[in-house]
Amino acid sequence: MFYFRLVLLLVGIVILIVVGRMIFLPDSWGQYGYYRGAYIHEEAAKNLVYGTNDSCKECHKEIYDLKLQGHHQRLSCEICHAPVGEHAQNGEKIADMPRKLGEPQVDLCLKCHIKVEGKPEKFPVIEYPKHLSDQNVKVTHTCDQCHTVHAPLENIERGRTKGVTLKMEVSGGN
Ligand code: HEC
Ligand code: HEC
Ligand code: HEC
Ligand code: HEC
Repeated sequence: MFYFRLVLLLVGIVILIVVGRMIFLPDSWGQYGYYRGAYIHEEAAKNLVYGTNDSCKECHKEIYDLKLQGHHQRLSCEICHAPVGEHAQNGEKIADMPRKLGEPQVDLCLKCHIKVEGKPEKFPVIEYPKHLSDQNVKVTHTCDQCHTVHAPLENIERGRTKGVTLKMEVSGGN
């Protein structure tokens, strides 16, 4: 009698496991390996979020090319703007892309270029707002009033710390 009960219990457990697997294991389990096969297709079907600089190329070729010629060539477009997926999907613009003007722009540039201890020696840094007073302009100037953001030395002649020489017009005082 004892053994009969034991066997009954074991059979019960086996049935529970088999039925439990049938009910709870997802359909595509084990299709490719020890995971849900459908997971691969679900992930692949998700909308693109980050797309690298090449994702901007087809729609913004001019800026893409300009940037490759300048000192910002190695920067990611999306680090200064936002993920491409929030701006374009399937070859069409779906929403505005943030672009920083005014004070937020100054904050963005200074995040990388402000002089702090410990920056690699070769990294170009400025003291702020001294950088602006050195050029004899008001400290309310934004960086893009002199620097082309996508190629930051494009309009600037180097090596003239005093009596700045700019190829473009810079109105001193506004
Ligand atoms: C260093 C930060 C930075 C990087 C990197 C950057 N941008 Fe910008 N971008 C800005 C800022 C700031 C503005 C707005 C100010 C301005 O246009 O002067 C802007 C403006 C723009 C505009 C608006 C049109 C225009 O000319 O003002 C477009 C389009 C644009 N960027 C595309 C790109 C693309 C494409 C890339 C990569 C190839 C890129 N940006 C990389 C900072 C950046
Ligand atoms: C499918 C085309 C497409 C792609 C891809 C695309 N853009 Fe745009 N973008 C546009 C259009 C259209 C406009 C509006 C007209 C214009 O300014 O050229 C625009 C405008 C912008 C602007 C100005 C603000 C605005 O939204 O009007 C910025 C900044 C910008 N794009 C940055 C980028 C960056 C950075 C990338 C890559 C990460 C990118 N775009 C990828 C089509 C695209
Ligand atoms: C994510 C970091 C980052 C941001 C944000 C950024 N830069 Fe840069 N910038 C760099 C790097 C990296 C270089 C290239 C350094 C090199 O060539 O070794 C560079 C180079 C430069 C140079 C050339 C300096 C030189 O002597 O070679 C200028 C000028 C400049 N940036 C201005 C700006 C301005 C203006 C902004 C804001 C629109 C800005 N940067 C935003 C990282 C950044
Ligand atoms: C009034 C014009 C003007 C404005 C505004 C301006 N710059 Fe400059 N910047 C210059 C000039 C000119 C140089 C070159 C100086 C030289 O070679 O001695 C320069 C050089 C630089 C360099 C390179 C420094 C180095 O030693 O290699 C960086 C980085 C830079 N600027 C960042 C910025 C940032 C960030 C802003 C905004 C906060 C800004 N600049 C605003 C005119 C300006």
